[in-house]
Amino acid sequence: MADSDKAHTAESAQRKPMTAPMVAARKGAAKLKMITAYDAPTARIADRAGADIILVGDSVANVVLGHGDTLAVSVDVMVHHTAAVTRTKPKALVVGDMPWLSYHSSTEDTVANAGQLVREGGAGAVKLEGGRKRLPMVTAVLDAEIPVMGHLGLTPQSVHSMGGYKVQGKEAQAAYELISDAHALADAGVFAIVLEGVPDVVAEIVTNELSIPTIGIGAGVHCDGQVLVFHDVTGLGAGEYLPKFVRQYANLADDAVAAIAEFFADVESGAFPSDAETYHMPAESAEILRNLSDPSAHFLADEAMERSP
Ligand code: KIV
Repeated sequence: MADSDKAHTAESAQRKPMTAPMVAARKGAAKLKMITAYDAPTARIADRAGADIILVGDSVANVVLGHGDTLAVSVDVMVHHTAAVTRTKPKALVVGDMPWLSYHSSTEDTVANAGQLVREGGAGAVKLEGGRKRLPMVTAVLDAEIPVMGHLGLTPQSVHSMGGYKVQGKEAQAAYELISDAHALADAGVFAIVLEGVPDVVAEIVTNELSIPTIGIGAGVHCDGQVLVFHDVTGLGAGEYLPKFVRQYANLADDAVAAIAEFFADVESGAFPSDAETYHMPAESAEILRNLSDPSAHFLADEAMERSP
């Protein structure tokens, strides 16, 4: 194990596993750090970096699976990715995103789908998009003892009804509706709300008025925490369009291209693999094997076999 991994394992053992009530209790205290992850390696990296919350976002559709929007993923796909994340046993709270149409038709279906993310995916909470329109579903999931994170503003599952990915709540009336939605979700009992793509003043008012944390993405600095997509922060998106609210802290795609190109160059030159990267047989066994593989030895052995009675 590398020294950095050992240090992390020791440090991680000290951290208490994060729960939804612990996230709610962080209101007004240290800022909440949330990032998406979609599989075991990204979950391990996010947890090592000290994430409070790992969101298995339905952005897996565009970020990892190559779809044009988030509408393409089903509950089964979300369970598959959520389970990959929770198998790494992160200290962060794992929130499973409820995909489009998994909480739109009936409260019974909604609870069953949220339950799948918890029972099969291992999530500690679920997130769903929308405000008062979704209150019966939110309440039903909470009644099933599953913590719910809300999501308001630019909700990507509404891309068609919004007419594109547009900042929401820019007009006073729309902003007022959004603030009313936030109050309704908080009153229903959600433990936190993601505010996406809204003017900073709207996020500031919501954050000041609610007693639960807000977590912003493209919502300014006043929120109780911030979330970004793993591949955007690390530059793994490999040339994908980045919205203005993204800050890219590394360019792992370029680093990966350089590493793989170096590997290929070593393959071409014969510099890979080296002796140290090769398995060896004891010298005597190798000698016997070489003699057996000698074509003339085969011939003599075959002849002897033919002559024997
Ligand atoms: O799916 C997602 O990634 C999200 C965000 C809040 C980043 O919902």
